[in-house]
Amino acid sequence: MAINKVVVTGGGVLGTQIGLMSAYYGFDTTFWLRSESSIGRTQPKIDRYSALMLEDLAKAKALVGTPMGAFVYPKGLIRDWKAATAESIDAQIAEAKNNFATKVHIELDLAKALEDADIVIESMTEDPQAKIGMYTAMKDLLPEKTILCTNSSTMLPSTFASYTGCPDRYCALHFANTIWKNNTAEVMGHPGTDPAVYDKVVEFAAQIGMVPLKLYKEQPGYILNSMLVPFLSAAQALWANGVADTETIDLTWRLATGAPAGPFQILDVVGLETAYNINQMKPDAKVEGSLTNRIGALLKEKIDKGETGVNAGKGFYDYRK
Ligand SMILES: NC(=O)c1ccc[n+]([C@@H]2O[C@H](COP(=O)([O-])OP(=O)(O)OC[C@H]3O[C@@H](n4cnc5c(N)ncnc54)[C@H](O)[C@@H]3O)[C@@H](O)[C@H]2O)c1
Repeated sequence: MAINKVVVTGGGVLGTQIGLMSAYYGFDTTFWLRSESSIGRTQPKIDRYSALMLEDLAKAKALVGTPMGAFVYPKGLIRDWKAATAESIDAQIAEAKNNFATKVHIELDLAKALEDADIVIESMTEDPQAKIGMYTAMKDLLPEKTILCTNSSTMLPSTFASYTGCPDRYCALHFANTIWKNNTAEVMGHPGTDPAVYDKVVEFAAQIGMVPLKLYKEQPGYILNSMLVPFLSAAQALWANGVADTETIDLTWRLATGAPAGPFQILDVVGLETAYNINQMKPDAKVEGSLTNRIGALLKEKIDKGETGVNAGKGFYDYRK
C-alpha cells in the first residue's frame, strides 16, 4: 500500500513540524484541529516553521562545498548533501513553496479529515486522557487501511492500543524537535503491532526525510532519552557533589570522547526548566539533603535568575557575547 494521504491530529509544536515535513516531500497532508480557535493558534506555527525551513534551505546554499557544510546542513530537507548545488537547492525551495501552498490542509471535521487517510500521526498534548479521548473519537472513523502512530515522548503504545480499535495497525513514531534539522524518527511497536505495519512506518519515516531508528521492543524514553537522561544526571551529580566545575566536566567529555559538546552545553540547549522538571519526577526529589534534592535546588537557583539556557542567552554559559 502506497501512502498518499497523511493526517496529523494536534497542531502544536511537533504536530506542525511533522505535517510540514510530510507536505515538503509531496504528501497530501491534513491537520485535524478541534476548533476555530485552534486554527488561530496553529496557522501561525505553520507559517513560522515553514518559513524557518525555507530560511535554512536558503542558508544551506552558502554551505555548499565548505568543510562545515556536511555537519550543519538541514539534514531532513536535503537528502543527498554531496550532490547538492546552489541551483538544486533553489529548485527545492521553489518546490517546497509550492508544496506548502498546495499540500497542506486544515480540517475541523474529524470524519472528513480521516476519510481515505493512509497514515494518522497523533501528536496531541502529552496527557493520557487527551490521547484516549482522541483514539476513542477516531476508532469508528478510521478506514480499514489506516496506520495509526503516536508521537508521544514518554508513554508507551501498549498503554493506548486497546482504545484505538486497530491495535495491529498502531505503533509509536517519535520525532525530535526541529525535525527538519534533527531528523531522527524512533519507531517503536507494541507486542500487537503487525510487523508489516511497522516496516511501512519505517519506510514512511524515510520518505519524509527522517532517519528511521528501529526499536525491537517497548522502552520508556526510546533509545535517545534512555541514554541521554542518565548521562545528564551523572554530570549533574558531579556538579552537585562539588567534584568538578561544569566547564571542567564538559571539557573532560569533549576531549576524551571527541564529542562536540559536553553535558552542560547540552543542558543549555535542552533548557534548564526541562532538566528541572525531569529531576523533580524522581522519587527522592523532595527528600531534604538527597542528591536529587540538591540538584533540584541548584537548577532552581539558576532558573530563578533567568539563566535557563541558550534561548534565554545565558545558562551554564553566557551566549550574549
Ligand atoms: N515538544 C517536543 O519537543 C516534543 C518532541 C517529541 C515528541 N513530542 C510529543 O508530541 C506530542 C505533542 O507535543 P507538542 O510539543 O507538539 O505539544 P503542544 O502543546 O505544542 O501541542 C499539543 C496540541 O494538542 C492539541 N490538543 C490538546 N488537547 C487536545 C484535545 N483534547 N483535543 C484535540 N486537540 C488537543 C493542542 O491544541 C495542541 O495543538 C506529545 O505527545 C509530546 O510528547 C514533543
